[in-house]
Amino acid sequence: MSEASPAAADVVVSLTNVQVQFGGGSVRAVDTVSLDVGRGEVVALVGESGCGKTTLIRAIIGLEPLAHGSIAVEGSTVGGGRRLRALRRRVQMIFQDPSGALNPRHSIYEAVAEGLRIHKVKGHEPTLVAEALAAAGLRPPDRYLRRFPHELSGGQRQRVIIAAAMALQPALLLADEPVASLDASIRGEILALMRSFVDSRGVSIIAVTHDLGLAWNIADRVAVMYLGRIVEVGPTEEVLRSPKHPYTQALLSVVPEIEGMAQQILVGETPDPSRIPSGCRFHPRCPVVASGEADRLGFGDRCRGVDLELEPEVAAHRVACHAVAR
Ligand SMILES: Nc1ncnc2c1ncn2[C@@H]1O[C@H](COP(=O)(O)OP(=O)(O)OP(=O)(O)O)[C@@H](O)[C@H]1O
Ligand SMILES: [Mg+2]
Repeated sequence: MSEASPAAADVVVSLTNVQVQFGGGSVRAVDTVSLDVGRGEVVALVGESGCGKTTLIRAIIGLEPLAHGSIAVEGSTVGGGRRLRALRRRVQMIFQDPSGALNPRHSIYEAVAEGLRIHKVKGHEPTLVAEALAAAGLRPPDRYLRRFPHELSGGQRQRVIIAAAMALQPALLLADEPVASLDASIRGEILALMRSFVDSRGVSIIAVTHDLGLAWNIADRVAVMYLGRIVEVGPTEEVLRSPKHPYTQALLSVVPEIEGMAQQILVGETPDPSRIPSGCRFHPRCPVVASGEADRLGFGDRCRGVDLELEPEVAAHRVACHAVAR
């Protein structure tokens, strides 16, 4: 990356035209994604199963090689060999299932201390561990140190994971469906905990979710993915209250908490990243095209024939749709 401008200094992660492919290029799981996340910002990445959310965040942590494009974390390009250890500290990942992420034979103390040792975090280890647990709401920490994962509830286990991550003072948390495996009753608590680290420590979060309600609760911005591409992005309020892309509208129309939208069940084939449709990739399932409205208004040919990316970054709320771009 070139020298950081003052504005760029507050960008924690910057994705530029990122493509991730599988099967020797036959599967374009992430297909030209550009996104900047600011310091202390929470971005929810939403979209149906298989749209490339996990692949995108794995790419940010250097687990998926890029076919094209680039990713920079705090100004350093991801993939530059020696920097990987530093990156692994500054970017922490929180998974859906806290049980799978904890070694069942390691005590809670060990679970938090391990990362401190790997990353050679300076300080008195027992104090750092206790502080991390307390900050994650496990109080008093002494009560948890010698316990094992199976002796905790799912919510407590997720708090341990978050404590272990936050103990490393990351700039960015990547959370892949962080509350999907938890009881509905404790999802809000865990989201509030994550949000508290944004406010108290300025951490940034990219939270992957199927659940638009989660996005509503925690995110400053929402990015909607469809078949490997971000098709709409903007401030949470704007995207969820006035979605512009027909795909976002369809996603929102089936959320029970959101009233006053006619349910739109998407028709057509489920999307397959090994066969991305020509034109707008959503056009085979788009209600604006299927209803004939796109043709009546004279842009149907573009929907079927002209691929498009997000509008240029002039407005905060941007969309990739011929109907909106007219
Ligand atoms: N290692 C891999 N090899 C081949 N294809 C893969 C691989 N990993 C992911 N894919 C494919 O890439 C696409 C995107 O997958 P990804 O796991 O990123 O989706 P997702 O949005 O996280 O879905 P979900 O909501 O179900 O977790 C899918 O079609 C998936 O089958
Ligand atoms: Mg996933």
